[in-house]
Amino acid sequence: MTDEKQNEEVKFNNPKDAANIPLIWIHDMTWGYDESKKILFKKFNFNLKKWDFTVITGKSWTGKSTLVKFLIGQIKPYKKTLYYKMEDMSEFWDDEIQRYRRKIGIIFQDYQLINSLTPKQNIIYPLVLDSTPLPTIKKKYDAVNKLLDISSIETTEIKKLSGWEKQKVAMARALIHAPDFIIADEPTGNLDHENTLQIADILIKANQIGNTIVLVTHDEMLLSYLKQHVEIKTITLGK
Ligand SMILES: Nc1ncnc2c1ncn2[C@@H]1O[C@H](COP(=O)(O)OP(=O)(O)O)[C@@H](O)[C@H]1O
Ligand SMILES: [Mg+2]
Repeated sequence: MTDEKQNEEVKFNNPKDAANIPLIWIHDMTWGYDESKKILFKKFNFNLKKWDFTVITGKSWTGKSTLVKFLIGQIKPYKKTLYYKMEDMSEFWDDEIQRYRRKIGIIFQDYQLINSLTPKQNIIYPLVLDSTPLPTIKKKYDAVNKLLDISSIETTEIKKLSGWEKQKVAMARALIHAPDFIIADEPTGNLDHENTLQIADILIKANQIGNTIVLVTHDEMLLSYLKQHVEIKTITLGK
């Protein structure tokens, strides 16, 4: 496993200096599934800072989705290997994991929308869960609408949306609550070339306005498109 910036040590002379604290810090993590003898991560290091655009790439079965599961709190790490804002995530209780998840924006290949709700209701769902006041919801919805242009489909039945439209809705839902970072596991896996680049353009724009992005993809074309348009950090698993 290599990371182009692997040797870039996390430098924080004073851990209380918020500007230097990484959002995520994985430190010398060695880990494999219990039921498998294979070690997936060997002394793996990773750090995510505010405003980064990080792409996790690598062939199939190299651990990309497993890394996502760590980053969304779905797999419990060993002690002192995975930190969120310098808090050891192995110490998180279930309610802390739930709170953590609400601070990040998660995007999946299969969209994971709620079919019984309209696109607009799906998008504002995280804000409703947090009991956000209506005027604030409206303001935030208008902001994501400006970025993603969803007004024409906001009341269309989810079932009737194309894959690309569904992914746009999922992205709006991930972005609306100004998450600490967005994590997208193969978001273009079910989309054609043109729609893939449209997703890339949204991620680029989202990053330019201040969002932190972790994108998982094994699509070389997407990777080279991104490299041409935005400064990315690339983590290649399985090398
Ligand atoms: N829940 C699981 N239990 C045991 N092994 C798993 C589990 N999920 C994934 N694996 C194994 O871990 C390896 C990495 O899988 P994954 O993280 O899904 O890779 P990728 O997303 O890069 O294709 C594979 O060999 C896979 O079979
Ligand atoms: Mg995967």
